[in-house]
Amino acid sequence: VTGTGRRAPEIYLVGLGIQGVRHLTREAEDCLAACRDVFLLHPTFGVAEFVGALGPAVHDLLAEYVADEDRVLAYRRMATHVVSAALERPPTALATYGHPLVLTYPSTLVQRGAAELGLQVYVVPGISSLDTVLVDLGIDPGTTGMAIHEASSVVLERKHLDDTIATLVLQLSAFGSAYHTPSASRPSRFAPFRDHLLEYFPATHVVTDVQSATFPILPRVLTPFALGDLAEVYANEQLGGTLFIPPARAPELDEDVLRIMHDPLAIGRLTYPPG
Ligand SMILES: C[S@@+](CC[C@H](N)C(=O)[O-])C[C@H]1O[C@@H](n2cnc3c(N)ncnc32)[C@H](O)[C@@H]1O
Repeated sequence: VTGTGRRAPEIYLVGLGIQGVRHLTREAEDCLAACRDVFLLHPTFGVAEFVGALGPAVHDLLAEYVADEDRVLAYRRMATHVVSAALERPPTALATYGHPLVLTYPSTLVQRGAAELGLQVYVVPGISSLDTVLVDLGIDPGTTGMAIHEASSVVLERKHLDDTIATLVLQLSAFGSAYHTPSASRPSRFAPFRDHLLEYFPATHVVTDVQSATFPILPRVLTPFALGDLAEVYANEQLGGTLFIPPARAPELDEDVLRIMHDPLAIGRLTYPPG
């Protein structure tokens, strides 16, 4: 299996989707079956067994997370396992929850290491939480436009937010610290994030934490609350999904553009004559 049209890859970065085995694509299955080793980052029951039945030796990378340690150290160890195996007994795969290039730093490290070492990488997209969240909310990002942010970088980089478009914020549960911890968060953890959002949205604006189903029999969980209550709600309910912030107001339309779009003669001026 290559899919690259070039030399066979030594490393596959494979997205496994969100809902256990059910989201695996045929392409993902083909690439995993071609591997001698698969390094797995997926918490759901049955996934390791399914991947193992395709042929490769399966190694669980979740054990690399150590409490009270900077997460980057775990990501480096994960990437080192993958790149070492790719050098010694290719092909190998890093198989991750969701999409392998959506907030999956080990994939970034593997890509960098592979580039340095002249290893070929092939990326297999997976169904992301970005996909499932749109389904759970029943929204089309093209209707209003959409921004996607990582929670800590919103505050760290003082991101300008647009209150006329939909916004998704990932990793709010890990906000404000690079350290991995099993401990529950206090409301004060989320206060800087809430305060930054309050510069752009009113405290009464209703936002929603969306937790997509991670197993076929599990329900999706939507938790709506007023933005002003974010710190308490996030801590008290230990929410861990993606935060959806709907637009707070309609955008101002450019009347000239609108007129041209609906002018039946304009399209003739914008395109070549038929034939
Ligand atoms: C480390 S990122 C990994 C994202 C993953 N690669 C993907 O494609 O969805 C984890 C973040 O993804 C989002 N996420 C993961 N699983 C989710 C789910 N079941 N429902 C909603 N959001 C989810 C949350 O914002 C969470 O903090």
